[in-house]
Amino acid sequence: MQSFSTIAQMREQVGQWHRDGLRIGFVPTMGNLHAGHFALVELAREHSDKVIASIFVNPTQFGPNEDYGRYPRTPDTDIAGLAGKDCDALFLPSVDEMYPFGTIGCVQMHVPGITDILCGAHRPGHFNGVAQVVSRLFNMVQPDVAVFGRKDYQQLQVIRYMTEEMSFPVRIVAAPTLRETDGLAMSSRNQYLQGDERQVATTVYRTLRAMRDAAAQGTPLRDIEDQATLALQEAGFIVDYAEVRRSDLTRPKLPAEPGLVALIAARLGRTRLIDNLEFDGE
Ligand code: PAJ
Repeated sequence: MQSFSTIAQMREQVGQWHRDGLRIGFVPTMGNLHAGHFALVELAREHSDKVIASIFVNPTQFGPNEDYGRYPRTPDTDIAGLAGKDCDALFLPSVDEMYPFGTIGCVQMHVPGITDILCGAHRPGHFNGVAQVVSRLFNMVQPDVAVFGRKDYQQLQVIRYMTEEMSFPVRIVAAPTLRETDGLAMSSRNQYLQGDERQVATTVYRTLRAMRDAAAQGTPLRDIEDQATLALQEAGFIVDYAEVRRSDLTRPKLPAEPGLVALIAARLGRTRLIDNLEFDGE
């Protein structure tokens, strides 16, 4: 696997592959890779001839009191893991390469509406930072296809919206959420869980399934959300939200509508967990 840290080197390789008529698949990440990330690499492979992953812990998507400084950085094991998955290239830009004019005075990206709700309401500016870095990465890597996980459902919708609106010539492919055997969605942040918290964390997926079952029985949406919030609080979580939404993240009118998704964000100790369950999927 080749590694590139500058835009110029990355572009030269991509240009060569494109001239050879090859389709390029792209998997952006923040590193500390787990099986969920590697499944994205495998899915990218199904849609392309060459697969490029990126690792960049993006400062502009972290709030001032969030975990940018302590976000787990494990480049050596990540590189070995990607090479083992037949990834063709890794893009590892520095903060200066990504933001040559700094992170304050640089060009900003704002996706209106869906960035202000759910996680956006609790992490102001977060999705603008995601949109900003993903648009830069698309421009630097120039992929034909990019793969994102359904685990970060709202992020996926923000990226879809931005890609369509900006006419980026990139096809967005969504990958299913990979879970531990007890249902906990894999996440780099799971390693923040201390002692008993790892066991308690399984409440999130259990609650999502209870929300789906309650909707199937026609329970009013407000009751579903109240019961879910209570179940999480009783397990020891501070709940940011537990909601049922349509796939475009607008509020449904009835629990029986097709295409609904339950979404949870909740904090356990110093760990913020997010997960979702599409009622028609999994
Ligand atoms: P990161 O959290 O590293 O995730 C990279 C990609 O892996 C995202 O598309 C995410 O949805 C996907 N992913 C994470 N856990 C997963 C799981 N358990 N199953 C399936 N997919 C999973 O998301 C980001 O990085 C950043 O916001 C990024 C898009 C790279 C922009 O900085």
